[in-house]
Amino acid sequence: MNQRTPPRFADPDAARTVAQTFDLRRPPADYYANPYPTYHALREHDPVHRLPDGGYFLSRYADCLAVYKDTAAYSSDKQREFAPKYGDSLLFEHHTNSLVFNDPPLHTRVRRIIAGAFTPRAIADMEQPVTALVDGLLDAMAAKGRADLIADLAAAVPVEVIGNLLAVPRAERGPLREWSLAILGALEPVLTPEQRARGERAVAGFLDYLRRLVAERRARPGDPERDVLTRLIQGEADGARLSEPELLHNIIFILNAGHETTTNLIGNGLFALLEWPEEKGRLIARPELSRTAVEEVLRFESSNQLGNRITTRAVELGGVAMPAGTFITLGIGAANRDPAEFPDPDRLDVAREPNRHLAFGSGAHICAGLNVARLEGRIAIGRFLARFPGYRLAGAPVRGGRARFRGFLSIPVKV
Ligand code: HEM
Repeated sequence: MNQRTPPRFADPDAARTVAQTFDLRRPPADYYANPYPTYHALREHDPVHRLPDGGYFLSRYADCLAVYKDTAAYSSDKQREFAPKYGDSLLFEHHTNSLVFNDPPLHTRVRRIIAGAFTPRAIADMEQPVTALVDGLLDAMAAKGRADLIADLAAAVPVEVIGNLLAVPRAERGPLREWSLAILGALEPVLTPEQRARGERAVAGFLDYLRRLVAERRARPGDPERDVLTRLIQGEADGARLSEPELLHNIIFILNAGHETTTNLIGNGLFALLEWPEEKGRLIARPELSRTAVEEVLRFESSNQLGNRITTRAVELGGVAMPAGTFITLGIGAANRDPAEFPDPDRLDVAREPNRHLAFGSGAHICAGLNVARLEGRIAIGRFLARFPGYRLAGAPVRGGRARFRGFLSIPVKV
């Protein structure tokens, strides 16, 4: 058993205290580096944990799944939560227009338009360009003999893939990553004034840019079978169209949704394999395991660790009665380490099956880009391992240090 990131607190009394006093706004020391001891403590001692702000934190797989599946009782609409958090701002306008933070009918309308663009054929068509892109990045690493797994690979792939999906001209992709990090960074449970200002500037910059891009695309539409932006502009065949703010904010959301999460899938995967050398050896010897390996990385170190819902009516969840209007945080990272669903959950097993993890959520809002993310993860991790099986750390990795999005800012390696 690898001890580099211990999955549990050594002292059972400490675990109980952590569970009983857990506050997402003031988490225990080391929580950002390694949240799993806290998640196990919560699941064992207080699985439906009341937070000091009156909301609840869920750490059991079955409870999270039940919430995801019941969209009538658990709403994704964030108007009430975001009004005090963001005030009258572009961040408020942005997040409350995104499909992920809406219920039907807006959710259904946008989801239908987007989902039509992620056909199996469209995904299969990405295989060759993504492979060529990754191989080019690996060539550059080979020439240097060292690399930062985040800057030189994990962050470089998603920006191109999402850029291609919306047919954003290559020369204009530069600011996309910074905008997206700033906007999603503003979703953290606790927000500093700097994070807020950075997020606000990013939405403004993004909107300015997109107004121009959308006007150009209206004048010269792309192929709606492949170009998600043209698809969103044209709407559905039966005439359901998005208003201008709905259109612009959902384009921003799609550009953001596929960025940091996928970067973290690739970075977390290559880091976890360094911590689990036997599993790395197994995957190198049997590259056909890359599909199950990607699912396992998604489970073991979920890029997106937290989800949110609000109750629409009085419910009973995991034996706890809650009134309408209760805020619920779904501990995706905790659910994905629940021993009731995953035998030996703190072990990385690249061949794990079944693996019904919640890294992409579940139910009506399940990640619309999950097959895009899987393809990117499989190709980036698989090609990197085949090319540089002996890669090793060349310095201390730097974690992102956030609760919702789990990943690294930098992982220096020798290849
Ligand atoms: C490893 C990478 C990714 C992870 C872990 C991830 C995770 C998630 C999760 C957990 C949700 C559900 C949120 C909820 O129910 O509250 C979601 C929704 C979504 N994701 Fe992803 N995602 C990833 C990559 C992508 C990519 C590459 C795209 C686009 C190309 C994308 C597009 C979306 C969209 C459009 C939604 C909203 C779906 C809806 O509300 O109906 N995601 N994602």
